[in-house]
Amino acid sequence: MQDLEALVAKAIAEFGSTADAAELERIKAGYLGKSGSLTEALKGLGKLPPEERKEAGGRINGAKNRIEEALVARRAALANASLEARLAEEAIDVTLPGRGRSRGGIHPVMRTWQRIESIFASIGFDIADGPEIETDWNNFTALNNPENHPARSMQDTFYVDMKDASGLNLLLRTHTSPMQVRYARQHKPPIKVIAPGRTYRVDSDATHSPMFHQVEGLWIDEDISFADLKGVYTDFLKRFFESDDLQVRFRPSFFPFTEPSAEIDMMFTAGPNKGRWLEISGAGQVHPVVIRNYGLDPERHVGFAFGSGLERLTMLRYGIDDLRLFFDGDLRFLKQFA
Ligand code: PHE
Repeated sequence: MQDLEALVAKAIAEFGSTADAAELERIKAGYLGKSGSLTEALKGLGKLPPEERKEAGGRINGAKNRIEEALVARRAALANASLEARLAEEAIDVTLPGRGRSRGGIHPVMRTWQRIESIFASIGFDIADGPEIETDWNNFTALNNPENHPARSMQDTFYVDMKDASGLNLLLRTHTSPMQVRYARQHKPPIKVIAPGRTYRVDSDATHSPMFHQVEGLWIDEDISFADLKGVYTDFLKRFFESDDLQVRFRPSFFPFTEPSAEIDMMFTAGPNKGRWLEISGAGQVHPVVIRNYGLDPERHVGFAFGSGLERLTMLRYGIDDLRLFFDGDLRFLKQFA
């Protein structure tokens, strides 16, 4: 029994020698387990003469308590150490400078798109959207542009080497005008809609991009005339450019889907572009054949359509002289609109 002190010291030393929680429990079993040294010592009490039992039992229990205390303390120390280690591992260095996210901006052509939508919405136009891969029928045939008609070569077309579900030839729409057909076939007059979107032509230089944007306008009712077109479009330009210092002129032109047809030109009467006529849009009274292809009666329903280039409007609004700037993605240019 005199070696109890040594036993306690050995236990404490062994507890301290491991940093592993499972190993600690194994060491503990060697002292306090079923056949641990302390347990054995307690079992041995019965063999002692009765007068020695009480004193010996007290000493053994004292030793057992000290070993248990040391065990609890070591358990806590190991748990604490593993928590510290995890915290250190997961620590975030809040002193690092942030990566910083620069602010995005709306592309100038998209700003034009949004302005056009809000101006026309404010005078009761609906806004429609349609596919860029279009049927040959909607893009040309329905617009009074029959197959083999020379007018088709006015626009150099990207053809798609596929047919749609009903066997119609497909292409990348060369203008937003097929939206006239799509929309008019799905809505009853009065039809009053704009359809902004992307369009495609085989064309590429300082003033032409193979992908560009147009906005189609269409107003069909029983009494919509060229005079309404003039009023609506002139008002639109003044609001778009936020200026009354401009003149609008309708120059006779040809489109298969309008009759009469016009090219809309505008001229600033003040500012840097002052005095130069600029072509801004095609337009006209919708051709009776096209009205019929809408599924309507041309004896009853009449109206106008126009198609304007968004890049052109944007260039004039901001004084940009090279179309390619829109598509280069050069931040020095784009940041000016952020
Ligand atoms: N779609 C014609 C073009 O792209 C423009 C236009 C639209 C002309 C509507 C008349 C009416 O050139």
